[in-house]
Amino acid sequence: KTEQNLKAKTREGRSPPRGMAPPPDSKSDKSPEELLCAAAEAGNDDAIAELISSGADPTYFDASGMTPLMHAATGGHAAAARLLLDAGAPWNALSPEGLSAGDLTSDPATYDLLLDHALRSELILGTVARRQAAPANSSDGVPAETYLDSRVSFSEDRVMDAESKAVMMEWERPLMEAHARAVCAAGGGKVLNVGFGMGLVDQAIQRYEPEEHTIIEAHPEVYARMLKLGWGEKKNVRILFGRWQDVIPQLGSYDGIFFDTYGEYYEDMREFHEHLPKLLNPGGVYSYFNGLCGDNAFFHVVYCQLVAMELTSLGYSTQFVPLPVRDCLKAEVWEGVKQKYWQLDTYHLPVCQAESESE
Ligand SMILES: C[S@@+](CC[C@H](N)C(=O)[O-])C[C@H]1O[C@@H](n2cnc3c(N)ncnc32)[C@H](O)[C@@H]1O
Repeated sequence: KTEQNLKAKTREGRSPPRGMAPPPDSKSDKSPEELLCAAAEAGNDDAIAELISSGADPTYFDASGMTPLMHAATGGHAAAARLLLDAGAPWNALSPEGLSAGDLTSDPATYDLLLDHALRSELILGTVARRQAAPANSSDGVPAETYLDSRVSFSEDRVMDAESKAVMMEWERPLMEAHARAVCAAGGGKVLNVGFGMGLVDQAIQRYEPEEHTIIEAHPEVYARMLKLGWGEKKNVRILFGRWQDVIPQLGSYDGIFFDTYGEYYEDMREFHEHLPKLLNPGGVYSYFNGLCGDNAFFHVVYCQLVAMELTSLGYSTQFVPLPVRDCLKAEVWEGVKQKYWQLDTYHLPVCQAESESE
């Protein structure tokens, strides 16, 4: 199979497979792969089946950078898409415009088929990757400490890492205020925030005057800045300096938990979720920055559903509150930023609660 795990990062986007260059146009006759693209475009299931069984490659990209699956999806041919997926067509290949088959279809049956296939693939690949991973490695073999060991810079509207990628940006303030509202819903209780960044969510949490407000921050310079800004002197604030992975034994249990780190992968967040049954009090609310694959609409839906499914298996139900963000994201917001980690018009704010309490 040519499919790859998306290696979704919780922030920063990801590195999806891009279209390969088409083969040289040496023959005037169409290649089996070009015929496959044409059959997929026309929804000709018999021709697709025949071409596949005679060896046509379903992972092929044609001269316009489209795969047979993208053609089937654009035409809304669900049965053709099924044949191609079964033959190993990659659901997550991208066109030169950065669109996947799921982004290209307007047919609900094709969309559902692609979504179902994508979810299964990511679930299986995640399981396989976890089985194969050495315990000390992060999900792609790059030590998770890389970001934490490098310099960060602060300005009024952003925190940047050493590679000019944004760790946190001011445009997210309304989102962080909404997250704070969600995790402080119980009112006046104990709240945990993982990842200080610019302190936007923490400023908003403080307005709810929680009895206890614990903040975990792992980057030494962010931590130093927190202290400089007086967070260490706030009566109800407890700061734990270190990676959440390392300070977890020092935690209690909370009525509201927010998780938003940087330089980590979905696998890390998934690992955090496994601690929720211990960390979240009955009636409590958990939320996280929902930036997984924030640069592609279909991949983002796949990851929203994947996280919700995995939280369900831990006993939590997740609701996504849609928040329009287009107005916060003027082009100049990204000036000087290497990667636009968010490119969608709507943010889906997750609200997770124990299944029995989600009403
Ligand atoms: C995106 S920022 C958080 C933004 C924050 N929600 C706000 O409202 O400003 C992520 C923060 O998580 C911190 N971080 C990264 N990995 C961490 C880890 N494993 N444990 C704790 N903090 C971590 C980063 O240093 C950074 O300050």
